[in-house]
Amino acid sequence: MNPLRLIATALCCVAIVFGGLTFPSNAQLNPFFYSQTCPQLHYIVYQILFKVAKTDPRMPASLIRLHFHDCFVQGCDASVLLNKTDTIVTEQEAFPNINSLRGLDIINQIKTAVESACPNKVSCADILTLSAGISSVLTGGPGWLVPLGRRDSLTANQTLANQNLPGPSFSLTELKSAFADQGLTTLDLVSLSGAHTFGRSRCFLFSDRLYNFSNTGKPDPTLDPAYLLVLQNQCPQNGPGDNRVNFDPTTPDILDKNYYSNLQDKKGLLQSDQELFSTPGADTTAIVDSFANNQKAFFKNFRKSMIKMGNIGVLTGKQGEIRKQCNFVNTKKKSSELDIAAVTSTESFEGGVVSSI
Ligand code: HEM
Ligand SMILES: *[C@@H]1O[C@H](CO)[C@@H](O)[C@H](O)[C@H]1NC(C)=O
Ligand SMILES: *[C@@H]1O[C@H](CO)[C@@H](O)[C@H](O)[C@H]1NC(C)=O
Ligand SMILES: *[C@@H]1O[C@H](CO)[C@@H](O)[C@H](O)[C@H]1NC(C)=O
Repeated sequence: MNPLRLIATALCCVAIVFGGLTFPSNAQLNPFFYSQTCPQLHYIVYQILFKVAKTDPRMPASLIRLHFHDCFVQGCDASVLLNKTDTIVTEQEAFPNINSLRGLDIINQIKTAVESACPNKVSCADILTLSAGISSVLTGGPGWLVPLGRRDSLTANQTLANQNLPGPSFSLTELKSAFADQGLTTLDLVSLSGAHTFGRSRCFLFSDRLYNFSNTGKPDPTLDPAYLLVLQNQCPQNGPGDNRVNFDPTTPDILDKNYYSNLQDKKGLLQSDQELFSTPGADTTAIVDSFANNQKAFFKNFRKSMIKMGNIGVLTGKQGEIRKQCNFVNTKKKSSELDIAAVTSTESFEGGVVSSI
């Protein structure tokens, strides 16, 4: 069965079995949130991403990263999508994001298609989260029923983006602490770092490892000598540093367990990657080994940790809003329109009710 039919069938059957029950992982989110208000949602997102991935095989990776960079900054609330305005200091210009985010245009394209099918129903935060889930399926990774029902933020926070997003030279201790700040465990850290099984990184983010690691004048000793030569060739010492290198030299656009076998082979691209395996005495080494040996174990944990990350700091119910355009907060209604809005708002909340088909 093709993946789209699989998702549709899974949604349908589980809806019948679990209709009316609540979902324990996060009481306010559930995979059937839009089953009444936007039943076409999954189909629309899948169709667009399927086409995009054919011409731009890197895009699924970029969307999963965009979702991560959203969730680590005041929760999965689409704050990362807000453009710079008079009142918004955009997260897009924070150091980890500037000249680096991709997929904003694709999210807008999906939002436009979703708005024409189901106006004012689906949040940008859910579109981004669902796009990340479907990106996994499209690149050979696991699929899961994406919990939905997030609302969009009214604010962004560039300072928090600079504070919360981990850097490529972080030590294992710093990585664990950045994840713990988000309520994520060491196991979540190792599972989610597996997203570096696809996508690209610019050279300047790891070139210290190639030429002058920790001011030793030598390369990082935890880097395989043959791989070092390959990377030095792709990232010349005094080059501009913005060449792009595959995270995974074996299967660059596939979501598989090779990230972990690369770490065992001393072929992690970033210092923050190799730390998970090469830090002496670390509890993460055994987790890397277990994922390198067993893709099912990796997928099971990746799925679990992606859902957990997708639940961070979500806005639900009447919090935030459903943005009309993902890059901007809705313009305030004039007071003459507020009465009408109050009447229709009860109607727009019907998405919260799950009923069996
Ligand atoms: C553990 C700490 C992490 C660090 C230090 C880190 C750092 C980085 C860096 C430096 C880049 C390259 C950016 C550029 O070239 O501009 C990158 C790319 C990427 N990251 Fe991470 N990351 C981390 C965790 C994650 C997580 C949790 C995910 C998703 C679950 C993720 C998904 C990705 C993907 C898919 C790319 C490639 C994106 C593309 O090609 O467009 N990363 N990351
Ligand atoms: C928002 O900003 C991005 C660049 O960060 C740009 O590509 C996009 O066109 C902007 N969106 C709108 C609607 O202006
Ligand atoms: C951003 O977050 C910081 C740290 O939590 C907080 O002090 C600041 O008020 C926030 N800024 C905005 C614009 O929300
Ligand atoms: C490595 O970096 C340090 C500090 O920037 C510098 O003093 C040293 O000369 C560099 N070594 C080499 C071999 O480039």
